[in-house]
Order: sequence, then C-alpha cells, then structure tokens
Amino acid sequence: MNHFLDIHKTDRAALRSIIDGARAMKTARNDRPKGAPDDEQPLAGRMVALIFEKPSTRTRVSFDVGVRQMGGQTLVLSGADMQLGHGETIADTARVMSRYVDLIMIRTFEEATLLEMAEHATVPVINGLTNRSHPCQIMADIMTFEEHRGPIAGRKVVWSGDGNNVFASFAHAARQFEFDLTFTGPEPLDPDRALEGLYRTERDPAKAVEGADLVVTDTWVSMHDPQSARERRHNQLRGYQVNEALMKRAKDDALFMHCLPAHRDDEATSEVMDGPHSVIFDEAENRLHAQKAVMRHCLGV
Ligand code: CP
Ligand code: NVA
Repeated sequence: MNHFLDIHKTDRAALRSIIDGARAMKTARNDRPKGAPDDEQPLAGRMVALIFEKPSTRTRVSFDVGVRQMGGQTLVLSGADMQLGHGETIADTARVMSRYVDLIMIRTFEEATLLEMAEHATVPVINGLTNRSHPCQIMADIMTFEEHRGPIAGRKVVWSGDGNNVFASFAHAARQFEFDLTFTGPEPLDPDRALEGLYRTERDPAKAVEGADLVVTDTWVSMHDPQSARERRHNQLRGYQVNEALMKRAKDDALFMHCLPAHRDDEATSEVMDGPHSVIFDEAENRLHAQKAVMRHCLGV
C-alpha cells in the first residue's frame, strides 16, 4: 500500500519522481484557468476523502482543487462532524471509509491517529499534518527551491524558530534529498529527539544563517500548542525572528520560505515576507502540484 505518511517512509526514487512529476504537471497546465481539467485525467472515477480535525486553508483548497483537476471527486469532512469525533474508533472509521473512497487524506492531532488510520485502511492514506510532521508541505518546499535554484542536494538550509512539526519534515527530507540542515532556536523549543543526527544546531541565528541557500521559519505557536504558552514562546523566540538584518547574513541569493499561515512581524517581518528573497506564494501554489503528484504515487496512476 502506497501511503504517504512521512518523507523518510517513502523511498528516494519515489520522492524524486513525485517532485519531477509535480513539475511536469505544473508546466503542462501553463496559464489555464484554475478550474480547467488537466489533459490527463488519472483520477477519473475516483473519490478522495479529505478529513480535517484542525483548521486549514492551503491543504484543504489545494487537495480539493488538485483532485478535481485530475478528474476525481472529493468529500471534505470535518472530524468533529464525523462519528470519529464522538467516540467511534479510528480503526473502524478507516475500515468503513475504505469501502466508500479510493484515497484518504487526514489532518489530525496525534501521529498515532494517522498511523492507526493507515494500519486499518485498505486504501492509501496521506498525512495532511499532525502534531509531529507535515510531509506534503516539504514536498512543495523542495519543488519550490529546485524551481528557483536547481538541485537542493548539497545546499545549506537553515530553520530559525520553533523545532516543530514542519521542521521535523525538513529533517526527514534532509536525509532523503541530501541537503545540509541547521536548526537555530532556543533550547526549550528544540526539535523532537528522534530527529537527532538529521540536522545540526547553532544557537546564534546570525552565525547559523551564514552561507545559507534557504532560510525557513514558521509560526511560533502551532495549532496543537496551548494558547497559554503564547507569551512565553514569544519571549523565547523573539531573537530568532527572520528580518532583513538576518537575511543579509545569508547568501546574497538565499531564498526565504514560510509554509503559512504567518503572523507577520512576529516570526518574520513583512519586509522579508514581501521582499526579494521570499518565495512564500510559490510555495503555497506548489502545494497543489506536489500533492497531485503525491496522490498519483499513492494510487499508482
Ligand atoms: N501550510 C499549510 O498547511 O497551511 P494550512 O494550515 O492553511 O493548510
Ligand atoms: N506548525 C504549524 C503549521 C501550520 C501549517 C501548525 O502545526 O500549526
């Protein structure tokens, strides 16, 4: 079963073919209207369930539009409105959903929920973000980097801020795509210990970004973090804001990425987000193309 659960759980050749397929599909669409079908309709007759237990703009819209462009249909479901939110087990939900749909994408809290869904589903399951990781985002980010700067292998990527779920997928990708990853952030917000060995740490952000080809950050408070942690996190992370002064220390042609949604002038200044290094809206667009290729990989079509 071709699930797409995490970047390190899909082999390198498949990851490369997903990125290359995404770029080819993007090129093939050229300037067509967003709602126009692709020439190829690999998802014709297929039904895709998109389950959300957390809010989403990009993931929801890009999966839905992507399925339709490829000729399939979607069911967008809120976890809270399903029996899943009222005590039905994940295993039973997975078995039932597999009788109706060809593919399941789920955004949830605990990684265990995703893994249980994948274990009991008889159709492929895609990770649309958990508290632990966000692999679809990083596939779009790799695609975006390579569109602008060529192969990411051997390049220096620096993450400034919270060692969160999006960072974790960058760490998984660093090994698979062979780039160098540096984390800069405060010790209490260090990445998951399971990621050790996949990145290096430099506490001083100015030193960390020296020679960087790509500087990345994300929100200081994720959806799964308690709102009560907000003030403490802001105090811990203020020194890791990505601003013009920090970007000046990276390579002249360094790119800036943020998966969005952003809290402008917290983790990154508007000057950087809207400035010449920023490719944040290409990243957002590429969610669509990368996920279309992920779905084709999962379905083998
Ligand atoms: N980057 C991302 O996954 O955005 P959404 O939360 O809007 O889906
Ligand atoms: N780290 C963020 C990413 C949102 C796309 C979160 O989990 O809320």
